[in-house]
Order: sequence, then structure tokens, then C-alpha cells
Amino acid sequence: MRKISTIDFKSSNTTSGKTVLIRVDYNVPVENERVLDDYRILNSIPTIKYCLEKGSKVVLMSHMGRPDGKVDNKLSLIPAGEKLAELLEMPIKFSNDCISKDAIDVSRNLKDGEIHLLENLRFYDQETSNDEIFASQLAKHGSIYINDAFGTVHRNHSSNSAIVKHFATKSMGLLIEKEVKFLSDELSNPLKPLTLIIGGSKIDTKIGVIENFLGVADNIIIGGAMANTFLMAMNYKVGISLVEKNNITTAKNLLKKASKKGTNFILPKDFSGELDSFGSGNICIADANDIPKNMICEDIGEKSIQLFANIISSSKTVLWNGTVGVAENPNFAVGTNRIVDVIVENQLTSIVGGGDTVAAIRNYNGSLIEKFSHVSTGGGSCLELLSGNKLPALEILKK
Ligand code: 3PG
Repeated sequence: MRKISTIDFKSSNTTSGKTVLIRVDYNVPVENERVLDDYRILNSIPTIKYCLEKGSKVVLMSHMGRPDGKVDNKLSLIPAGEKLAELLEMPIKFSNDCISKDAIDVSRNLKDGEIHLLENLRFYDQETSNDEIFASQLAKHGSIYINDAFGTVHRNHSSNSAIVKHFATKSMGLLIEKEVKFLSDELSNPLKPLTLIIGGSKIDTKIGVIENFLGVADNIIIGGAMANTFLMAMNYKVGISLVEKNNITTAKNLLKKASKKGTNFILPKDFSGELDSFGSGNICIADANDIPKNMICEDIGEKSIQLFANIISSSKTVLWNGTVGVAENPNFAVGTNRIVDVIVENQLTSIVGGGDTVAAIRNYNGSLIEKFSHVSTGGGSCLELLSGNKLPALEILKK
């Protein structure tokens, strides 16, 4: 895949720079018109600065939410633009449409070093239908195309797919370069032992990752509500905990495959949770083989924390996706927080993906994010890459 370092940013017949159209992923949480988490915006800055330092003009395009082709002011990119201006300490031009004549004129009249942000691409449903005409209109904003929206590389949309053929000069940005380096290159030849920590509630979304690492990872630790389904597949009783009954057979098959391929599959030994209902406040702690009929498991218990900590601390590389408890509730964030501590204390090569996991680390202690080797900006795209699947928006950049 072409890298940004191969691009010549200067026009041959003038001293002025070319205009670079960059697809970024500014699909960030916003409340009361303020960005709540600027991680994706922060991570778009190296590519933007690189282009500006090469003397070019920058046009940024992104989606926000899923407005289904209709203008929805709550999903405007204005707050993201304000955050970017604050982080870069410079003004940003903004157009309230991504393909209007006015917006294209703003891009064409940019001066070297200026940035222009376009309004939400998904205010047009042609964006998600990978529409050719829409893509050709977007392409009018620049003469160089860079895709740095890692969060959407598993999508085949106008701004990352149909648009590409309009540019002779194109590449991935520095963020995608880094994501691919850690999530694909580093993990294909990791420092061993390699341990995967997989949490969250839905097995479906993680099967691909688990299967891809069977026989590759030395250990796969399972936490979160997903562990209940695996325990049930092993004939444990899990009270009234969340279980994906339709995935019990899948769980059984994964356990069988893991043992065939020699990967240790580690499940929690004990849990903390509540009796009767979520939020009852009746806290209960129980061993996995002795879970009360009316208990909901919501976090791993102390014995599991010890077990997981021993495995993690004797690993050299850790890949983590999904919290091991209901981490948004401080009562049940204990296991997740202790995993953060163990990874950070042991200075392991650590790769983290998935919005929930990142949010949990941030809630525990935001400054610890920097202690991880790589924290992905992707959700679905990260899982797809870790599952060993080809990502359409990356494939098209190779052509
Ligand atoms: C994400 O938040 O995972 C990306 O921005 C992709 O968003 P989408 O799932 O709405 O395509």
C-alpha cells in the first residue's frame, strides 16, 4: 500500500502546494455540541501536520453517526472542527455541505497551510451506497487523496472507495500506517508468549479474532458476559447472567479447536455481581462452580484477577479487546482496571482495540493510554483486521 512518504506535495510549475483531500474518521461522541472524546481527532493530526509542513492545503472529510442521508444538526461536524482548531491552535474553514459549489470553491481558493473541513458526508445517502457521481463531486476538492480514516476501512463507501480512482496520487495516512503496523504486521510475528484478552458480551463479533489466533496465541483469556456463554457450554450454571444461548454451540466448537491447536483457553474462576436484578445493589461474590440461581455475574472475582494477572505478566505481547466486566459501573470495573495495571506495570508490548476497552482505560486513568504500545482508533475495522480479513478501503488503495 502506498505510503504518504512517497507523495510529492509541490506543484511542478508553481511554488504553491497542492490541495490534499484527507478522509478522516471524526465519528466521535458529542454532547451539548462538545466533543466528549477527542482520541480520533488527536490521532488525525500527524497526517494533517505532515501535509501542512510539506506546504500543501488540506481538505478534511468525515462522517458522523448514521443520519441515513438526511441533514441532522445533532450530527454536524462543527464540534469536531472546533476541537481540531483548538488542538492545532489555528482557525479551520468549515463548509456546511460537502459537495456544494460553495464548498468546492472554498477548497479551490485555499492558501498554503490552510485547512477546510466539510460537513458530514452521510447527510447524503450516496456516501454509504458508494455512489460514483457523489464520489466524483467529492474528488473536486483536491488533487491528492489520502485515506486516514482507519475506523471506516471495513466500509465500501464513496469517500474511501469510489473516490480513489479519481486520483493519480493517493496513499494511506500516518494513522492507518500505524494501525496496520500494530494490528497486522507486529501480530503476525509477535514477541512470545502472546496472550489475547477477549471480553465484552457478544461472541459473534469476536469469533473471527479468536479463530484467527488459535494456534498463534499462547493464551486466550475470556472475560465479560461472553465468559458466561463459554461456561454454560462447559455445563456450568451461571444464574441469571447474560448468556447468548444461540452461541453455545459456537463456544463449544471454539473450546474444542483451542485444545486441538494447543492454545490455552482461560475462563474466570469466580465472579462478582448482583442478586436478583441489574442495579439491585445486592452484591454477591461466587466461585464459577457455585453461582447462586439468582446471581448476575458482572465482573471477574479476585481469584480470576490473580490467575489472569499471572498469565498476563508472564507474556511478552498482549492483545486486548473487550472489558472483562461491566466497566462503566465502578463496582464492576475492578477486573478491567487490574488488567490495565498489570499490562502497564510489566511494560508489555500491548495492543488495545475496541471503543469500550479504550473508554474503560480512559475512565480508570486517562494518562495510562500512553503507556500502551498501541490503542486502536477502530471498532469494527479493528476486529476485521484482527480476524485476518481483507479491508475493502485498504485493498482499493493498493490498485
Ligand atoms: C466507527 O465508529 O466504528 C466508525 O466510525 C464507523 O462507523 P459506522 O459503523 O457507522 O460505519
